[in-house]
Amino acid sequence: MGGNERSKRGWKSHLKNWEFKLAFFIIAYFVFAHVVLENTYTLSEKGLASHLKVIPEEAIDFYDQSPLQNPDRLAYMQYATNYDYLNLAILNFVQLRQANTQVPNLVILYDQILQFYASNRWSKLYEVANFHNITLRSMELIKTNYNDDSPWAASFTKLHIFNQDDFDRIVFFDSDSMFVNATLANEGDEDSSDDLPQRNGNCHIDELFKIPMEFDFALPQAYWLNNVVEGKERLKYRQKVDIPNAQRRRLRMKKLVSELPSKGWQSLPSLIYEQHKFDNVDNFFANHVMVVQPSKKLFSEIIKYVHNPFYWTLTNRRNMRKPTDYDMEVINKYLNSELHKGAINVGILPHRVYGVLTGEFGEEWHERFVVDPQYLPFIKKRSNKGWDPLSVLSSLKLVHFSDSPIPKPWEEEGGEQPYDSKRIFCKDGNMSEYEEKYPHFRPRLTDDCASVAIWAWLRTQFHRSRSNLWFAG
Ligand SMILES: *[C@@H]1O[C@H](CO)[C@@H](O)[C@H](O)[C@H]1NC(C)=O
Ligand SMILES: *[C@@H]1O[C@H](CO)[C@@H](O)[C@H](O)[C@H]1NC(C)=O
Ligand SMILES: *[C@@H]1O[C@H](CO)[C@@H](O)[C@H](O)[C@H]1NC(C)=O
Repeated sequence: MGGNERSKRGWKSHLKNWEFKLAFFIIAYFVFAHVVLENTYTLSEKGLASHLKVIPEEAIDFYDQSPLQNPDRLAYMQYATNYDYLNLAILNFVQLRQANTQVPNLVILYDQILQFYASNRWSKLYEVANFHNITLRSMELIKTNYNDDSPWAASFTKLHIFNQDDFDRIVFFDSDSMFVNATLANEGDEDSSDDLPQRNGNCHIDELFKIPMEFDFALPQAYWLNNVVEGKERLKYRQKVDIPNAQRRRLRMKKLVSELPSKGWQSLPSLIYEQHKFDNVDNFFANHVMVVQPSKKLFSEIIKYVHNPFYWTLTNRRNMRKPTDYDMEVINKYLNSELHKGAINVGILPHRVYGVLTGEFGEEWHERFVVDPQYLPFIKKRSNKGWDPLSVLSSLKLVHFSDSPIPKPWEEEGGEQPYDSKRIFCKDGNMSEYEEKYPHFRPRLTDDCASVAIWAWLRTQFHRSRSNLWFAG
């Protein structure tokens, strides 16, 4: 009996010990999972849906019906770290004035060094800016490595926009962009690539200031970088996700817009596959156009992602900046952390209106561009379903010159260059021109002649728009 009692007690204490170990193990595992495996699927699913929303252009049109609130507290902003970009920024703002923007403040942040050279170009640019009431604000260059000569090294300077807290809201865009307002003469015609508009009307994007103030940030998705879902995950989702065609999409948008007044911004679409966000930690969002609400706090938080505080090696390794990270990666890391905490609301802007890259017209496959952001993970990469370049042109408002390695339209082009093989040429085009102009590095021949014409049209419009306002160095 006594012995039995003893062995029972022994067993009990053993059990206690065992339970203790198990409990300890479970707690340790969850702490570990929370700290280290934060990116696992089940953990990341929670909460994103109410903080990350897709803002379709139809919703923006709806918000545009109300007047601008406190326009004096709003600003358009660009930045420039060299004279070419300062010139480009001024060109864009002159066009905004001509388009009759209701936002009085047009602000260019520039590297303070630009005013210190006694340059003729500076004084001319300064004069034009002054004439059009464009504010020039000098900034200190933000760089992490002063030996880094890559074109992106100075791109951190862009982050100064978050610090301009004399404004409530800022619409920022990269200065290597151009406003587009192409009214097509023969809309609806088949194969009307010859009927590109003769001129580019003025346009502003004041409507972006009107999206609900609950959005701390709004920016397009980097649709050209994002991965699509593949393998097993794809099979799992294929049954569920049904990408609406143009007609069904129109109906859905009508319903969405009719419900916005009663249901509010929370009824805007969320991502369908949240892991998609976390699979693209550093490149989910593009930042060539952004709607932001500046504050000193925001600026000091973001700047930490550039000059990582020393204790981050212990507490925040995941978010440490890599030598290859620039403005885009840094902003993405910041947004990723804040979305994880549920601390901010982010809207995805319609890239087909505000986030188009000129390079899209030279791509071979376009479905990633065509679909709305929430469907992006589910398309086939090598597909052109729904691509209609002329309708893209007609709804486009802001285009970003991005055709690397082909030079930007204000940069010098050589004679025949290897980058010519990245161009496209219409199959029905003038073949003797093709052979004469491109004896070795030949553009890709394509059936998509409208895209060829639009790509060239955008460059022509740029050259036209700058004709009286370009001050050579
Ligand atoms: C600039 O602002 C001044 C006064 O605020 C105004 O008189 C002038 O017409 C403006 N010029 C332009 C080009 O908008
Ligand atoms: C485009 O230009 C036309 C005429 O130049 C103008 O009537 C129209 O309002 C402009 N569209 C936008 C979106 O600004
Ligand atoms: C085709 O290109 C060649 C060489 O550039 C040019 O001489 C010729 O006039 C062009 N033909 C047509 C029909 O445009």
